[in-house]
Amino acid sequence: MHSKIDISDLLAKSNGCIFAPSLLSADFSHLADEITAAQNAGADIIHLDIMDGNFVPNITFGPPVVKSIIEKTSLTMDAHLMIVDPIKYGKIFAQLGVDIITAHIEVLKNEVDWKKFKSEIDAIAGIAINPPTKLHDVEKIVEMFEMILIMSVNPGFSGQKFIPDVLHKIEKVADYAEKAKIKRIIAVDGGINRETSKLVRNAGANFIVAGNAFFKTDNYAEAVKGLCKRFA
Ligand code: DX5
Ligand code: ZN
Repeated sequence: MHSKIDISDLLAKSNGCIFAPSLLSADFSHLADEITAAQNAGADIIHLDIMDGNFVPNITFGPPVVKSIIEKTSLTMDAHLMIVDPIKYGKIFAQLGVDIITAHIEVLKNEVDWKKFKSEIDAIAGIAINPPTKLHDVEKIVEMFEMILIMSVNPGFSGQKFIPDVLHKIEKVADYAEKAKIKRIIAVDGGINRETSKLVRNAGANFIVAGNAFFKTDNYAEAVKGLCKRFA
């Protein structure tokens, strides 16, 4: 089992920009090497996109692949569950040692579901919000979840274009967390590159997920410099 990470520690150490490359854009025939290369380039966390072909129109990988990966690395793992049954499978990923498990608010719709997810999953709990989904209950969400993942593309595929409309949601979450003096991971996922990374960090994001802008480049160390200024 991975030891549980400390959010405040992670935020402090990362100087406002936690970097999590999305493995979905990596070379799947060399996953262990890709993770080592990401770690050497400075990645703090590996973002695992779990898709079930139901909640989203794509299927990626599941527990057996995650188990093999976890055995090969000491890096913190974050599983983004784009699936219709995040409680059932979230438990399995947590048992495998995934540190952060994020479910979608389009699946876990209310406080009752959120509480159940939190009480059943032995990991840091995150909630993800799709671009068309309105952000209601920001106070409750920020109080309940240690990570709020604002989707900046419609989930399903890497390499899509950033949707700027979501910037106001990032601001809303960041403003409330600051006002309430609660330390939270405010993550953004989808279409992040040098330019959009700046936009989301200015809006208050402190956790950057990037797939193509990292793994589809020739030089990972150069790529992280553009995505999080602490590496520059
Ligand atoms: C989209 C996934 C993202 C995606 C990011 O459904 O949740 O994590 O892989 O890839 P890029 O950065 O290429 O948009
Ligand atoms: Zn993702």
